Amino acid sequence: MAPHARTFSITTPIYYVNDRPHIGHVYTTTVCDAAARLARLSGRDTFFLTGTDEHGVKVEKSARAKGLEPIALADANAAEFEGAMRSVGASFDDFIRTTQPRHTAQVQAAFERLIATGDIYLGHYEGWYDEGQEEYVTETNAKDRGYKAFNGQPLVKAREENYYFRLSAFQERLLAFFDAHPGFVRPEARFNEIKGRVREGLQDVPFSRTTFSWGIPVSSNPKHVVYVWMDALLNYCSALGLPDAKIGAANGVPAERAKFWPADVHVIGKEILWFHAAIWPAVLMALEMPTPRRVYAHSFWISEGQKMSKTLGNFIDLETLRAYVDRYSLDGLRWYLLTQGPLRETDADFSYAKFVEVFNADLANGIGNCASRVGNMIEKYFDGKLPDEGVAAQEDWVRFTPEGHTAFNFAEICSDAVAAAEAGLDAFTLDTALVQGMGIVSQVDLFINHTRPFSIAKEIEKLGTAGGTEEGVEADRLRRQLAHVLVLCAESLRIASLLLWPALPSKMAELWKLWNCSPLKSADNPSAGFIAPLSELAVFGGEHGLKPGQAISKGEALFMRADGKLAPPGR
Ligand code: MSP
Repeated sequence: MAPHARTFSITTPIYYVNDRPHIGHVYTTTVCDAAARLARLSGRDTFFLTGTDEHGVKVEKSARAKGLEPIALADANAAEFEGAMRSVGASFDDFIRTTQPRHTAQVQAAFERLIATGDIYLGHYEGWYDEGQEEYVTETNAKDRGYKAFNGQPLVKAREENYYFRLSAFQERLLAFFDAHPGFVRPEARFNEIKGRVREGLQDVPFSRTTFSWGIPVSSNPKHVVYVWMDALLNYCSALGLPDAKIGAANGVPAERAKFWPADVHVIGKEILWFHAAIWPAVLMALEMPTPRRVYAHSFWISEGQKMSKTLGNFIDLETLRAYVDRYSLDGLRWYLLTQGPLRETDADFSYAKFVEVFNADLANGIGNCASRVGNMIEKYFDGKLPDEGVAAQEDWVRFTPEGHTAFNFAEICSDAVAAAEAGLDAFTLDTALVQGMGIVSQVDLFINHTRPFSIAKEIEKLGTAGGTEEGVEADRLRRQLAHVLVLCAESLRIASLLLWPALPSKMAELWKLWNCSPLKSADNPSAGFIAPLSELAVFGGEHGLKPGQAISKGEALFMRADGKLAPPGR
């Protein structure tokens, strides 16, 4: 890694341990994973954080209901979350638990700091409380929702002595901050919702609880435990050992981690945007700490056209996801989540029929078939060695171009795709890399259909190899043409595979092995990184390009075609 490589830090929400991992958690984590992988591939010094949110009344209640101490439930479920996330290929650099001392000490220090600055004060609360969301609800809001909590249960009446966070004092500063950072919340429509709500006026937020004990005690007044959201949000800093003397020691977190603050992006679901886009920046302003660069709020998965629910039987839990992985491979699942997921404003439907359709179109018939066609032809016509035919003969691209189609200038097609993918990382239009990678594959398919290399091969066979004759000269010309077509296809697919890798890490690594072109430092340890950044790896016919004579084999199909007539996996 170059000493001045730009950093990229990305976080998932930390997940409540009273729940079991399901498609929602797996989705957010997979989105972050693909972004982190693209960042690493681009040569950015990357930090990807996830973890579990372990305090609060919900965890306390679930544990008691099972006859367990809260920490025992937290230990078991945190381990399950960590294992589940690893099993879906998540390449996180740290897994933070809010019960760890490195975290609790920071939270306590931050709380005391805010009491000292006057941003947190002692007061009383009386009103509605949503136990599921761990959130107080105003009277107007409670009325609007028919006095129902987010999960449909009734709201509860609460009366407590609380510490309050003086959010009301931050309206002007937040609005000024939003103006100065027009990209702070994405998608745009969600940002407008937040701005609207901040403009309406802000109320102070209860920041401690006394009605249960499963939380981080306020050091100066330990009958209070810190509000679970204040506790949880601080995970993003405590994993980095931040910030410094102001709120306490780093508790053994490696000092070089500090460079990863502020986070480039907190990826979350839309239901927790208010905490991340309003409360969190205000808390950081009060702590005099830099604010995150972006909060990205995706929408929700529904299942087979309906809200996911255990009673409807359409709930997509970890077991269901594992059944998809067993049948279609982990990369098959990742591809569906990443390309069909609710990344933008609208919810997305997880439908079995759609899964099969996308799997076949993009993977089995797309990259899988295209790579095996090209590998097969190189194996068959050139003894499995990339023919020695330069990639630079520009006039041929033009000659092969069908009428009405822009020239098959693969060097240009590929460099445009790579530039778009890298820009997509900063804009967090994350699926750009995947769309661009698949775009190259489609161009290669089109090129094959148009140039018909298999027909050229037949022609060559017919002409025979008699040297010196007219037929022999023609056969030589056609052989060069065939070689040229296949070299262009193979080199383009190599570049496509780089762009598809963030979604398809195992399958693309398999392809790299078959084609002897792995850009990984170590094939057995992908976290060791790449031999060069994407901008160098992806130069068409460049230093890292496929070399004449190098062995290329067809191997097994990367993706077996899916049969939509089978019953859905796991059902
Ligand atoms: N613990 C809080 C977050 C604290 S972050 C400082 C929390 N945890 S959670 O376990 O409920 O996880 C919520 C997250 O799970 C959502 O923000 C979203 O990322 C993901 N999803 C949960 N259900 C989902 C869907 N149906 N669809 C997509 N993602 C959703 O909130």
